Amino acid sequence: MKITFEPIGIVHSPFTDLADMPIQPTGENAAQGALEIFPAFCGALTDLEGFSHIYAIYFFHKVSGWQSQVLPFLDDQPHGLFATRAPRRPNPIGLSLLEILAVDGCQIKVAGLDILDGTPLLDIKPYIPSFENPENVRIGWLSGRGNQVKTKKSDQRFKD
Ligand SMILES: C[S@@+](CC[C@H](N)C(=O)[O-])C[C@H]1O[C@@H](n2cnc3c(N)ncnc32)[C@H](O)[C@@H]1O
Repeated sequence: MKITFEPIGIVHSPFTDLADMPIQPTGENAAQGALEIFPAFCGALTDLEGFSHIYAIYFFHKVSGWQSQVLPFLDDQPHGLFATRAPRRPNPIGLSLLEILAVDGCQIKVAGLDILDGTPLLDIKPYIPSFENPENVRIGWLSGRGNQVKTKKSDQRFKD
């Protein structure tokens, strides 16, 4: 089965190089930018201004191919791809929880970007804590490494 997606917009971010950028939205100095929603989809932004955070779902357009084992940014040992957030995936889809600063016409101003400038946006969904607040969460090989995500920057490893 083939699936085709049409981008709903584009990401405007300060990052034009895959290296030396945040590896997750919780990076220090939450980077600001905007999600530009294309006119055909702009009407769907009605009521979004009441929410503080959104999930941005997007296409990692600057990676090619995928690997079943990857060396993630937060370890020096390889892990199975699906136990990581590495961008080189069979379906290269990214997921970032962003803070909404303002909804201004067809633009959503956001903070917390770990997304490259020019990235095609596939969908946005409001973040609702009571929908996703599981108990007894385990984080596998990332145990004890969670705080490094704030300061760790990307490097060249997933470049084409
Ligand atoms: C580790 S991924 C995590 C992205 C997202 N928060 C997730 O969990 O799906 C973040 C890294 O992906 C890379 N990246 C961001 N946008 C990209 C794009 N459009 N194409 C390829 N790589 C991208 C950058 O190197 C960035 O540091």
